[in-house]
Amino acid sequence: MPVNLIVGAQWGDEGKAKIIDYLSKNIDFVARCQGGANAGHTVVFDNQKFILHLIPSGILYSHTICLIGNGVVFDVKKFFEETENLNSKGIDTKGRILVSPNAHLVLPYHKLQDEFEEEKSKIGTTKRGIGPTYTDKVSRKGIRVRDLLDAEIFRQKVRANAQTKAKIFKALYRNDFDEDLTSFVDEFLALGEKLKPYVADTIYFLNEKINENKNILIEGAQGALLDVDFGTYPFVTSSNPTSGGAVTGLGIPPWKIQKVTGIFKAYLTRVGNGPFPSEMETEIGEKIRQKGNEFGSTTGRPRRCGWFDAVAGKFSVMINGITDVALTKLDILDGLDKVKICVAYEFEGRKITNFDSELKILEKCKPIYEELDGWKESTESAKSFSDLPKNAQKFIERLSELVGAKVSIISISPDRKGTFEV
Ligand code: IMO
Ligand code: MG
Repeated sequence: MPVNLIVGAQWGDEGKAKIIDYLSKNIDFVARCQGGANAGHTVVFDNQKFILHLIPSGILYSHTICLIGNGVVFDVKKFFEETENLNSKGIDTKGRILVSPNAHLVLPYHKLQDEFEEEKSKIGTTKRGIGPTYTDKVSRKGIRVRDLLDAEIFRQKVRANAQTKAKIFKALYRNDFDEDLTSFVDEFLALGEKLKPYVADTIYFLNEKINENKNILIEGAQGALLDVDFGTYPFVTSSNPTSGGAVTGLGIPPWKIQKVTGIFKAYLTRVGNGPFPSEMETEIGEKIRQKGNEFGSTTGRPRRCGWFDAVAGKFSVMINGITDVALTKLDILDGLDKVKICVAYEFEGRKITNFDSELKILEKCKPIYEELDGWKESTESAKSFSDLPKNAQKFIERLSELVGAKVSIISISPDRKGTFEV
């Protein structure tokens, strides 16, 4: 299983890190390919909880080498906060993380811009500066990790960008911000010095390892419905969390990816604004939120909860080329009389079975549900598919049939131990 790509198949927070962690025990390399510190990847083991935003979750096993690819937007301060936190919990990071020199830097003015823009656009971003950093990248004004290693270039590029941004911020947003948008430069240059040993050509490195047949996991962040091309635009993130993002975000050939594991939660959550056809009624939504601890691990915001949406799920399988499904948080549905799966939408008297990111449709359509009998038994102690209550098995089989991919992994508790293969 040389390259296995792990993608979020819904609106993020599907439990990607838990599955990465589960699979990492047989893995040599784990690479992040897109997104930045907007991700919140949680792993629990030995009663310890780790939340990673930038460093691949594979770091939690001592034998893995982790890569941060060119497609990631890199927050150098968060990076060191994270390494220090890991070190303090006994996880050694020395010599185990490689950062691409081509990754774009998230700078303080990007976060400020994210905050300003958010006041108007109300996307519900994480305010981690993700959108503005990718915007600068695409408009060819971005500053990359490699620039941070050369003080003169860094100073000069920051100065040029800061001047333009100050004018724009003043004209469009407000004039009570600290006009010197360059005040972070010295602090960042010092971090750049510290970063030098981590910077390496991740593109050649990873391709070599692929050719040596090493076992590699690619850790996607966010999810298909947040994809800037395929998601519920403009209520999306600014990268491609779908499969294509792994190819461009790491510089590897598409045909070297043998397996695409799509992570689905047994229900649905969304944090931030935007349409959500299968959003649950208040009471059941609140129950699932509490039981599933559905609060953002990056921002702490309550997540909106909904029923599994097979229309969106099938679309996600198609655009990602998902070969295997990992189904997480099945246990949260234990004890319900009925469980629902959204199988189509109804819009202006029409039945829609293809996912369409048109907001007018998604905001106004009515979900058409298939209702299945729930299961009263707890799934907690299950170690295999056959241990699961019969109705839970039926739910999984139906879900798999509807999205068109086999379910290969099931997770039934937050702990490392609560995952098994089908
Ligand atoms: P993981 O990797 C869930 C959402 C934000 C917002 C939109 C845009 O943990 O699954 P951004 O800050 O990226 O510009 O915000 O995307 N979002 C996520 N939602 N999980 C994530 O990451 C997310 N990363 C961004 O809430 O709606
Ligand atoms: Mg998350």
